Amino acid sequence: MSKPPLRVGVIGCGFFAENHLAAWQHMPDVTLIAVCDLDSAKAQSAAERYGAKLVFASARDMLDSGEVAFVDIATTMRSHVELVELAAARRIPVIVQKPLAPTHAECLAIIETCKAAGVPLMVHENTRFLKPVRRAQEIIASNALGKINWGRVAFRTGHNIYGKQPYLAHEDHFVILDLGVHMLDVARYLFGDATRLYCQSQSVKPGIRGEDLATIMLQHESGVTSVVECSYASPIDPDPFPELTLQIEGTQGSLRLDPNYRLSVHSGGQTVTHDVSPTMFPWSTVPWHGTQESVFAIQRHWVECLRAGKPVETSGADSRKTYDLVFGAYTSARTGQSVSMTS
Ligand SMILES: NC(=O)c1ccc[n+]([C@@H]2O[C@H](COP(=O)([O-])OP(=O)(O)OC[C@H]3O[C@@H](n4cnc5c(N)ncnc54)[C@H](O)[C@@H]3O)[C@@H](O)[C@H]2O)c1
Repeated sequence: MSKPPLRVGVIGCGFFAENHLAAWQHMPDVTLIAVCDLDSAKAQSAAERYGAKLVFASARDMLDSGEVAFVDIATTMRSHVELVELAAARRIPVIVQKPLAPTHAECLAIIETCKAAGVPLMVHENTRFLKPVRRAQEIIASNALGKINWGRVAFRTGHNIYGKQPYLAHEDHFVILDLGVHMLDVARYLFGDATRLYCQSQSVKPGIRGEDLATIMLQHESGVTSVVECSYASPIDPDPFPELTLQIEGTQGSLRLDPNYRLSVHSGGQTVTHDVSPTMFPWSTVPWHGTQESVFAIQRHWVECLRAGKPVETSGADSRKTYDLVFGAYTSARTGQSVSMTS
């Protein structure tokens, strides 16, 4: 007998929540029952466009309604601690957008709150769910490249990200926390946990508060050395925004993910280039289609794990290691020293 749909409530109906809302709306075993935003016009508009029955201006009221089986928090980071506490106190499983919070201590507090309450938590870390990243991981696991020694995970753009996300210009901790968190998570996903890192950061664009360019070198337990590059200050043409690129080298071969979803695998003396373009949904909008596919994939992953009672990939315990890297990178950039991740 098929199980009844899971009822989700989404908190925050801004720029990125559009992708969450569309993905929930297109899952037959999930009902988007409620939406919430401090700005009631935004909540009302989301409810009308995505078919939610209930509209709230207060997260507390939504969580007290007894209508939601789990909550999806798509607000910006300063609200996350309070919203997670509200959900955990009511034992409501919770998804939280990245970045978890502005400081390391608050990130750890969110993870601890859910752990102490025994409430499932997933950090919405969608980048590792991108099709090319999943394919790269499969190729590594197949041993086609032999033992992996070196990797680069890069996201470099000069795109005006401030147009849709003006708040980013005012963050003390900027590109490492906003974008680096995705790239560091991908590096962990592909090469395993890191034991040491070194970071240099730069603030390039006039008038912004934090760093918009960072280069991070990681030593992984697996023996891999990786370089994570994040830049919102790269005047490059053509600009690959919003695609990431990869280069991975092993004892028997290498792979390269180039812009336009071209994945070239060099192995056994041959090079084969695969098209890893995203699947288009009826609601996909280029150039966001890759991101949208990854949002759908991580939300599917959550539903399947929640129903099966299994831990998600980007659980609190797992994400803690990613946030240790993020804030370790800030320490390294500030001190000019490498930082051990094992101490
Ligand atoms: N995973 C990705 O690829 C990706 C991409 C872009 C943004 N994001 C993340 O998504 C999050 C949201 O970013 P955005 O650009 O959509 O922000 P936004 O400002 O456009 O939207 C946030 C919304 O949350 C609402 N809100 C804030 N506090 C609230 C509260 N306590 N209760 C109810 N509503 C509240 C605001 O009114 C606003 O409408 C950020 O954490 C950002 O880093 C992720």
